[in-house]
Amino acid sequence: MCGIVGYIGDQKAVKFLIDGLSKLEYRGYDSAGIAVDCGEEIFIEKAVGRLDALKDKLKDNEPAGVIGIGHTRWATHGRPSDRNAHPHSDCTGNFVVVHNGIIENYMALKEGLISRGHKFLSETDTEVVAHLIEEEYKGDFVAAVRSVLKKIEGSYSLVFMSRKDPDVLICAKQDNPLVVGLGEGENFIASDIPAIISKTRKTYILNDGEIAIVKKNSVEIIDRQGNATDKKIFNVSWNAEAAEKGGYEHFMLKEINEQPKAVRDTMSKRIAKDGSAITMDELNWDEKFLDEINKIYIVACGTAYHAGLVGKFYIEKLARKLVEVDLASEYRYRDPIVDEKTLVMVISQSGETSDTLAALKESKRRGAKTLAITNVVGSSIAREADQVIHTWAGPEIAVASTKAYTTQLILMFMLALYMAQIRKTVSQERERELIDMLKKIPAQISETLSDVDPIKTFARKYGFNEDVFYIGRSLDYSVALEGALKLKEISYIHAEAYASGELKHGTLALIVEGVPVIALATQKSVYEKTLSNIKEVKARDAVVIGIAAAGDTELEKYLDHVIFVPETDELLIPLLTVVPLQLLAYYAAITRGCDVDKPRNLAKSVTVE
Ligand code: M6R
Repeated sequence: MCGIVGYIGDQKAVKFLIDGLSKLEYRGYDSAGIAVDCGEEIFIEKAVGRLDALKDKLKDNEPAGVIGIGHTRWATHGRPSDRNAHPHSDCTGNFVVVHNGIIENYMALKEGLISRGHKFLSETDTEVVAHLIEEEYKGDFVAAVRSVLKKIEGSYSLVFMSRKDPDVLICAKQDNPLVVGLGEGENFIASDIPAIISKTRKTYILNDGEIAIVKKNSVEIIDRQGNATDKKIFNVSWNAEAAEKGGYEHFMLKEINEQPKAVRDTMSKRIAKDGSAITMDELNWDEKFLDEINKIYIVACGTAYHAGLVGKFYIEKLARKLVEVDLASEYRYRDPIVDEKTLVMVISQSGETSDTLAALKESKRRGAKTLAITNVVGSSIAREADQVIHTWAGPEIAVASTKAYTTQLILMFMLALYMAQIRKTVSQERERELIDMLKKIPAQISETLSDVDPIKTFARKYGFNEDVFYIGRSLDYSVALEGALKLKEISYIHAEAYASGELKHGTLALIVEGVPVIALATQKSVYEKTLSNIKEVKARDAVVIGIAAAGDTELEKYLDHVIFVPETDELLIPLLTVVPLQLLAYYAAITRGCDVDKPRNLAKSVTVE
């Protein structure tokens, strides 16, 4: 959470800082601030609320300096306010700092600093860092930063600016992302690539423990002991337009519509030319490797966790290996049974989710083999895992995950089929049939996206209900969970997903006249049972909207409305049924006037626990 930017060059820093922050606002949007070195003094401006509030304050008061730092905040310590917004400075005003993460020992440090006469202006953990640098500075800025890093515990990406050293910005990273963009006669710092992509493709992606000394014409990377590291330039392959809205009203709608391409990109080059097999060049698994694995965990958070639930189904069904799926925030605190015969797969769009990263590290510590499925090349999770497979979804900016989910599903399916190939648990005929259907999925998603009018109508009609229920069995249940999460997070409607068979064990008590129920009924093996559950809720006068495969003539007999998706194998249908659910959430949020891309209390990357 929180977005950080920094600029050093010949241009007015404020321009890049504000533009960069606007690209990072998805990381936090409680408040924002900038600091620019103006020679005589460091100019600081902050504003609670969205970046626009800061822009308003700067309208007639733009600083002219050419070195500066900025921050967009997602509050952890101290409520959103002007005072708690970053940057924070020391007592003298000579040093300023922006921070993403949590300084865990800040209370003890703060008490010590107060007893030595420091005056604090905010309730944040970050401010201790500014006062510490004031104490540690003895004329050598880098040495002072290194001393401060020895005193703080926790997670951080930090950028320091000193009025006494007007030709340099210093960054440090531990557990939170930080990228240095390399320009010509200017350099850029950011939490994430979208902030710098319009300026440069050449970057240094910092590793934990690294410190970057960023000047106008040079960037030096050292470790905490002060030794130079052998850092390689990472060339970003995304184009700048990919991180823009491209004519859509919201990033979420753009990303929903990008799914056919994202899914196609993710599967391309992973299917043999003759369509007979899955090729996973990133992995070199064989029968022995898989036989030796006696347990597979899939660990993730939020939407990625929902993709993991589908992944479990795929791997168990196709490759006949037992899989457990765990929430990353729970997994590492319950002493999981993990050893060198365990394969731990972590799924993360951003590759930076703190709990998922910690779960991965814990699994490695226990000797497990690890595989990351992530969208962001060079992310912390990608670098930490033994092996990585990337979803090629392109940048996902909206807080609500859409194309990340469908590309994760594609990869889980392909991975399961790849494992089945090795273990010979699926016949060649069946594999070819599944691959044929897989290849049709991008076009079928496009078809699903072409008919949004009924969904808009439902959203307008039911968008003001306070509760919505999602039901389904088998894979439909996993998709129902994702549909409910989408609705909750962007429209603030209370939405719950239930395995249809569970209804009569409690939840049916909540079904009363007029309550909308979204019923997914695509899984042939449990179709009749699902139908009975649908009748149960209909009998309680719920308004039931069905999601079914084309050709289903049964459901319409019982339901007020049915949304059809194209026909495919029931294993692959989640890739289609999730699309109307994403659109329903989107249009419900629009109906309610919600800020779709920046839902309240949330941020895109959860880099704090
Ligand atoms: O970047 P990650 O995939 O690790 O993020 C995990 C969750 O925070 C994320 O999926 C979240 O649940 C989405 N905002 C939901 O739309």
